[in-house]
Amino acid sequence: MNSVSYEGMIFDEYISKEEIAHMVQEVADRITHDYQDKKPILICVLHGAVFFLTDLMRALPIDCTVATVHLQSYDGVASTGQVRENVPLQTDIRDKDVIVVEDIVDSGITMHYFKQILRSRQPRSIKVAALLTKPTELQYPDAKPDYCGREIPKKFVIGYGFDIHDYARNLPAIYALREA
Ligand code: IMP
Ligand code: MG
Repeated sequence: MNSVSYEGMIFDEYISKEEIAHMVQEVADRITHDYQDKKPILICVLHGAVFFLTDLMRALPIDCTVATVHLQSYDGVASTGQVRENVPLQTDIRDKDVIVVEDIVDSGITMHYFKQILRSRQPRSIKVAALLTKPTELQYPDAKPDYCGREIPKKFVIGYGFDIHDYARNLPAIYALREA
């Protein structure tokens, strides 16, 4: 499948399954290197990052645990400019080494907001691992990921967790909206 259609829009294959696997392995190798003697807790930002989280975690040969939070800022193909914490983080992270696992950092508002919540709970450290980032769109410098699979230009993407109105997450590759 080189292109798919959702809501009357066409999306072209942009990052293949094989390239995604390679990106995930690279991020895992860097985390493995940095967390040799630590036992990090991976906080998965639902729902988008669940695919990245499960692949990433299986590529980590270190002791680690997982927790989840459901944050939402996008509606359809655009950011609402507001972050909703639909399901809060339930896990105690005091004195823990936290790695937030996110699908993408776009404007950074989601990570900026979530890091404030995390800091108030006094973890030992906070790092962010994002599969993708859109550096030209970043408005909150503190949201820049510490680990990133790939930087992309301003494009709306779907697949491998990325959704349009909650659909298309199950596509095994990543597709980008075709410009008119
Ligand atoms: P930010 O808060 O502007 O950095 O946006 C981050 C959130 O918006 C991510 O967690 C995604 O859920 C969503 N998002 C940003 N860009 C895209 C995209 O291209 N496709 C699908 N979701 C996106
Ligand atoms: Mg998200």
